[in-house]
Amino acid sequence: MKPTTTPKTYRVKSFGCQMNVYDGERMAELLAEKGIMPAPDGEDADLVVLNTCHIREKAAEKVYSDIGRLTKGKTQAKAPMIAVTGCVAQAEGEEIMARAPAVSMVVGPQAYHRLPEMLDKAVAGERSTDTDMPPIAKFDALPARRKIGPTAFLTVQEGCDKFCTYCVVPYTRGAEISRPFNDLLTEALKLVEAGAREITLLGQNVSAWSGEDEKGHRVGLAGLIRALAPIDGLERIRYTTSHPADMDDALIAAHGEVDKLMPYLHLPVQSGNDRVLKTMNRSHTAESYLRLLERFRAARPDIALSGDFIVGFPGETEAEFEDTLKIVDAVGYAHAFSFKYSPRPGTPAATMDGQVPKEIMDERLQRLQSALGRHQFAFNQDSVGKTCGVLVERKGKLPGQWLGKSPWLQSVWFESDAKIGDLVEVELLEAGPNSLAGRPLAPALT
Ligand code: 5AD
Ligand code: SF4
Repeated sequence: MKPTTTPKTYRVKSFGCQMNVYDGERMAELLAEKGIMPAPDGEDADLVVLNTCHIREKAAEKVYSDIGRLTKGKTQAKAPMIAVTGCVAQAEGEEIMARAPAVSMVVGPQAYHRLPEMLDKAVAGERSTDTDMPPIAKFDALPARRKIGPTAFLTVQEGCDKFCTYCVVPYTRGAEISRPFNDLLTEALKLVEAGAREITLLGQNVSAWSGEDEKGHRVGLAGLIRALAPIDGLERIRYTTSHPADMDDALIAAHGEVDKLMPYLHLPVQSGNDRVLKTMNRSHTAESYLRLLERFRAARPDIALSGDFIVGFPGETEAEFEDTLKIVDAVGYAHAFSFKYSPRPGTPAATMDGQVPKEIMDERLQRLQSALGRHQFAFNQDSVGKTCGVLVERKGKLPGQWLGKSPWLQSVWFESDAKIGDLVEVELLEAGPNSLAGRPLAPALT
């Protein structure tokens, strides 16, 4: 690779989960510190960061096709500098370097604070890879937050020790770590100062967060939420993603007692069949999962439930799949993500007997999604007539129209003279499958 000039503009393309979105924002902040600016919409960037996801096959393929698109027919001088970051970088760093000569930097999710120095090397004509995994070092090395939108992510926990047999996360993101309480309090205050009114606490297994509060007491996620709630100007707290094994009484109680904690719980179940759950190495059964949800509902009766599902896990029979449809009906999810099983190299399930043919997976996914869609629509219809706060996130399609989120994370649009970041009291008037229309009741709480 030849030496080149320092890029003037960048674009960060994040795939996959919300943690990747957070990481992408932080990398953008690092680049901005180096004087590199975001490329204007519609214009090519001098540096493209492909912040990848490895959780399912297509995402990795997409990275290679993106690299191809960025470099097609271009000499090195004309093509953008490319950095591949995120979980594909962690899992396939060497392969990317070998397969894609146009890539100058491969940076794992725990090493992206080193992006600026790797960029200097790339400018000098040297390709480099860093997939080390000292997670706290990364957070300490990142610049101060400069978020300006009304909603912000805050990574509080990373990594996962659960080792579900289908999942690459324990390999790509490493072991569970919790960021220290004080660091999180400081970052949350900075985010609110910079305009955030809603903070979503992020972690691959966020409910496993633990730390020491100001008095030196060991606290879990509920303790952190209670410590953040008094921050002036912070109106809403959310968290994601949780594992049923780490949901404790304190967190359930917080849902009933902390007003700023939104009535929404994303709790993946993956399957409704106990044999499949066991082979997945999930530590819950369908029954224990349902009992857990009952406890959340007792604490917060209007709580909206969301989940993740996998169809076609190796060995899944038709009857076992139908148990998943049953749990969907039993819970009545407000929202959900559902996926076809995708064998991930190096995970135990990838070599299990009974891999399910693609056509069967397609058919099961379609049935599951139509059931989930019905429940989502029903949940939205049940919300009609309610009055709630809507945090305005962006303009709608028509003039005077605004779009924001209800406490239950539904998209709500309405007409008013509000502005982004307002929390507007809205009556929900009409439900669609994916959003609701509302009418503002009072002037915005600005
Ligand atoms: N195949 C399909 N879906 C997967 N997920 C994780 N690994 C796989 C896989 N190998 C899904 C799970 C998880 C969500 C983030 O992605 O449902 O909760
Ligand atoms: Fe993956 Fe399971 Fe950990 Fe979730 S809990 S990140 S599915 S291993």
